[in-house]
Amino acid sequence: MNIWIKNGHLLDPANHRDEICDLYIEDGKVACVGSLSSDKPERERAEKATIIDAEGKYVMPGFLDLHVHLREPGFEYKETIRTGTSAAAKGGFTAVCPMPNTKPATDSPEMVKKILEIAERDSEIHVYPVGAVTKGQSGEEMTDIAGMAAAGAKAISEDGKSVMNAELYRKAMREAANAGIPVLAHCEDKNMVGSGAMNAGKKAEELGITGITNAVEDVIVARDILLAKETGARLHLCHCSTKDSVKMIKAAREDGVKVSGEVCPHHFAMTEDEIPRDDANYKMNPPLRSREDVEALCQGLSDGIMEAISTDHAPHSEEEKKKSIADAPFGIVGSETAYALAVTYLVKKGFLTPMQLVERMSMRPCEILGVPGGNLAVGMPADITIADMDSEYKIDKNTFVSKGKNTPFHDVPVNGRVYYTIVGGKIVYQYEE
Ligand code: DOR
Ligand code: ZN
Ligand code: ZN
Repeated sequence: MNIWIKNGHLLDPANHRDEICDLYIEDGKVACVGSLSSDKPERERAEKATIIDAEGKYVMPGFLDLHVHLREPGFEYKETIRTGTSAAAKGGFTAVCPMPNTKPATDSPEMVKKILEIAERDSEIHVYPVGAVTKGQSGEEMTDIAGMAAAGAKAISEDGKSVMNAELYRKAMREAANAGIPVLAHCEDKNMVGSGAMNAGKKAEELGITGITNAVEDVIVARDILLAKETGARLHLCHCSTKDSVKMIKAAREDGVKVSGEVCPHHFAMTEDEIPRDDANYKMNPPLRSREDVEALCQGLSDGIMEAISTDHAPHSEEEKKKSIADAPFGIVGSETAYALAVTYLVKKGFLTPMQLVERMSMRPCEILGVPGGNLAVGMPADITIADMDSEYKIDKNTFVSKGKNTPFHDVPVNGRVYYTIVGGKIVYQYEE
């Protein structure tokens, strides 16, 4: 299918393009950017193409979500690769990185291949599997990292927890560096967190729930940065939630350490003060933090210290999330709300320009993972997101295509809607009123 995207506002940070123009897709690739002149043979070809009128909308390289939970295999009642990638496509994502905490875990070359096989069959967007650091994510025995990378794993992570054995983690970082893939780190000291279920503070006291202090995250951020410095590993810190994480990333980068950080929409859009009652739709790990932390994260995104926006899309069943904050599982869905939350809480509030939003959701995530994308130069794969930043509506969890409806953003007014998601020149999502 050839597509002629007309009159859109192209935002392509990799090529410094910020202008109203046409973009023509042929054979799955970007074939022409600019205006198609009437006397060129290009124009004749384009006239036979599917036309998308993108007037008033942004045309951006497709978003890459560095952090999702697709739950397959093992927890298909929460989500499957099919439903999770459909939700991502609806959110404007042309690629996702599923974390390995499935059952069984993605902890071997065979399991990586299995995820890729299911994705090949069930997903219309790119799926870049993340392999576990230890077998069964039990923290004891290192996985075959080189083998998983050869099988197609694009990163390793123990997401859901930290590898508490620093020596084992140091070895894994060396392996990842040798295999040329990054380490995506969930930073949480297992001994310090105990039975904590929300941010340690006034809100937790009010609700009588055990708190999680900032240091639970910060001590592992510090450790992992030191290990990356020693091993030369490419370290990417998942779902940063504290002001000191931002400070430490800045200092480490100034020190030459290869470290990057991501922020999830819930951590930049919501503080613990907004938790209205004991409702597990506000429970995720790390938890919603204080106003001071949220301000530091927004500023970090603005300054470019925090380079990526990812969702930590973590679907759970309604049954599971009906429980109290103390007992329910951690996690909220994010694929279908991330773009609008980023527009509303970062662009509209002046923390990011539209161009910077594309950097944080597309260009830098692709660079961090070392995969194609995030670039709409001629000849590049036509992975494209078309969206506006002005539509006004309220988030409605009943419209989610994800199996998970667990969000604290139901009924929240937002700006910004995704109209088309295109992968390899194929329209994989189109908004219908
Ligand atoms: O909130 C979270 N949910 N944080 C994690 O680290 C894991 C995730 C999940 O798998 O549900
Ligand atoms: Zn995590
Ligand atoms: Zn996660």
